[in-house]
Amino acid sequence: MLLSNMEKVNILFVASEAAPLIKIGGLGDYVGSLPKALTSEARQWEVGVKMDIRIALPFSQEINPLFIDRDKRFSFTSTQGKKSNRFNVYTAVVDAIPHYILENTTLPHLQQNVYAADPSEDGEKFISFSLACNDLMNILNWKADIVQCNDWQTGVLCAWLKAHNTKITRTVKSIFVIHNLPFMGAGTASIMEEYGIRPVFHPALPQWGNDLPLLSGIMNADKVITVSPTYAKEILTPDFGNDLQDFLRTQQDKLTGILNGIDQSIWDPETDPYITRNFSCSSLKARAMNKEHIQLSLSLETNPQTPLLVMVSRLDVQKGVNLLVDTLRALPKMDWQAVILGTGNAAQEQLTRQLEQDFPRQVRVINRFEAAFSHQLYAGGDMFLMPSLYEPCGTSQMIAMRYGCIPIAHAVGGLVDSIQDEEEQRTGFLFSDATVKGFLDKLIMALRRYQKSKEWVIIQKRAMQQDFSWKKSARKYLEVYESILRE
Ligand code: GLC
Repeated sequence: MLLSNMEKVNILFVASEAAPLIKIGGLGDYVGSLPKALTSEARQWEVGVKMDIRIALPFSQEINPLFIDRDKRFSFTSTQGKKSNRFNVYTAVVDAIPHYILENTTLPHLQQNVYAADPSEDGEKFISFSLACNDLMNILNWKADIVQCNDWQTGVLCAWLKAHNTKITRTVKSIFVIHNLPFMGAGTASIMEEYGIRPVFHPALPQWGNDLPLLSGIMNADKVITVSPTYAKEILTPDFGNDLQDFLRTQQDKLTGILNGIDQSIWDPETDPYITRNFSCSSLKARAMNKEHIQLSLSLETNPQTPLLVMVSRLDVQKGVNLLVDTLRALPKMDWQAVILGTGNAAQEQLTRQLEQDFPRQVRVINRFEAAFSHQLYAGGDMFLMPSLYEPCGTSQMIAMRYGCIPIAHAVGGLVDSIQDEEEQRTGFLFSDATVKGFLDKLIMALRRYQKSKEWVIIQKRAMQQDFSWKKSARKYLEVYESILRE
């Protein structure tokens, strides 16, 4: 079926996070911004397509309470396999998109945090939630044409849709989006069995992969999307495939990579309310006030000439914190300052604090979540450090470029697809080897370039003019929707 021949296309996004209700990482931004972009892009698609996109997410105490109206709710019981759970559903409409927040009242103890410290505890929470999305569609008397599941938390829903040919699901197609391959939902085998989800078998799949929600998703979905084209290729190789590369190669026909966008109306240095001084490409000089504000507020020497390196990140192993710390330690004696903002894993946080202690004149570390200050760092930092060991897409490098903060990043995944390292088109600096030498060489190259201020401004302007909106990517999603609805 062609999209344009359909009166209306119904899509249900199913995910563990959705900004602005709840955001822990990039997944929250994705779910919070793609549906909006799809709705507006679809209107301009051929003769105009009407989309009815809705979002389902699990309740947790971490969801912004402003979005939960306890008095307005409905309830249902979801019975799957040997298990029955009772759900309250709260509805919040954000940017005209209905969000259904499912509170499992049978398992209230699982709903404190979005993710438990011990990931195996998350199994029943997410499996019961994902499967209850079918009951939700029944109760709403609203049937999705496509269900778009995200990451392992929602993978079993693809399996359920494939296995149940009921009136509701007969024509429902499913898409599974991989935001982070290494997180597979390990330790949930017995829960999957209790909820009636069958293991997956494939000759190329290692035995340990038979009962993982991530693989239920990949194997049973009609299409699998990774969040950048480069990541779609990388996961087919031993370096990034997490021992699933042989299996994933057998699924290549339905695998595609689409780069995420960012919401450019939020991330705009001309209008951003959180920064000291707004600026644009044509008023780059005003940017200096933002840098000065950072230096002043963190008691760093206020010298406009000193390059200010910033990192805004979850501090965990994926983000290359060890490499960052070792590389900054190895920098030759030259003038630089560094500010690291982020929380995460205790050991990684400790590494950053130790660096601050050893470089008291140059380094500041803020192990807190400070959304407003992160805007200020993008607006005032000179270089944005992103030595991620792997990066399915990454959003902060795109935000940094919009604000004229030049990324120095490891050449992986979405970083390759969004940063240009060729001299004539340079918008940042990419290093290929995730070693101190690899990172250091590029960092020194960038620091030298920074001294030639005219050349630096050219790079900044080019970076700021890149289009990182969802527009192009939303079109690619529409093409995928059309292709599976046609099958
Ligand atoms: C995950 C990935 C990140 C990506 C985000 C949104 O957090 O690690 O690279 O940008 O999902 O897709």
